[in-house]
Amino acid sequence: MIKIENLSKVYGEGENKVIALDNISFEQKEQEKFIAIIGKSGSGKSTLLNIIGALEKATFGDVQIDSVNILALNEKERAVFRSKKIGYIFQAFYLESEFSVLENVELPLLIAGVNKKDREIKAKEYITKLGLESKIYEKVKNLSGGQKQRVAIARALVKEPSVLLADEPTGNLDSTNGQEVMQILKKIAESGRTVLLVTHNIQDAQIADKIIELQDGKISN
Ligand SMILES: Nc1ncnc2c1ncn2[C@@H]1O[C@H](COP(=O)(O)OP(=O)(O)O)[C@@H](O)[C@H]1O
Ligand SMILES: [Mg+2]
Repeated sequence: MIKIENLSKVYGEGENKVIALDNISFEQKEQEKFIAIIGKSGSGKSTLLNIIGALEKATFGDVQIDSVNILALNEKERAVFRSKKIGYIFQAFYLESEFSVLENVELPLLIAGVNKKDREIKAKEYITKLGLESKIYEKVKNLSGGQKQRVAIARALVKEPSVLLADEPTGNLDSTNGQEVMQILKKIAESGRTVLLVTHNIQDAQIADKIIELQDGKISN
């Protein structure tokens, strides 16, 4: 569960000062597993996601995830938190294109020191869930955009995070593949994980349980 209080993020100073997030507060309710964050380019969507994912530090405020105040963590604790609690997918996929599907999905487990046998079992479970079993030994560079995003989702889920962050995950996909990814995200939320989707596609946002609209770093709805 996510709880945010008086969160602000300021980049730069003096003339270059940008207030990316301006005193944001919200609390996720039990039934709100799928939350969409919408807003124009530059409104602070990615900044908010990156702070929740402990990739960036806030300037001010409180962010609690599963009752842990992530802004109070030191560098090492943040890395552990990220690795245990957070899955992340992006518009640009960020996969290893020369690696196979299996190797990509195994990677977070390899980094976490899981042995080969257990890595394979877990990776194959998620590859199958994402409907990619026929592509398991294929190099990622040979896959379509929709398939790549499914690999990225499998990789994000393989460590069973409680929160999945998705930054414009359909931005590089045609509408058919985009809708397929949206349905997958919806199922993930229904399975009990929190899904936080950043999008500027209002249609995509409609399937969420809650929509947060950002405007100039403030919640406007
Ligand atoms: N690393 C950074 N350094 C300086 N300014 C930044 C940085 N990241 C984002 N910004 C600024 O913060 C504001 C919000 O950016 P961002 O969160 O990326 O918006 P969105 O994802 O909604 O397009 C923008 O004005 C952007 O230029
Ligand atoms: Mg962005």
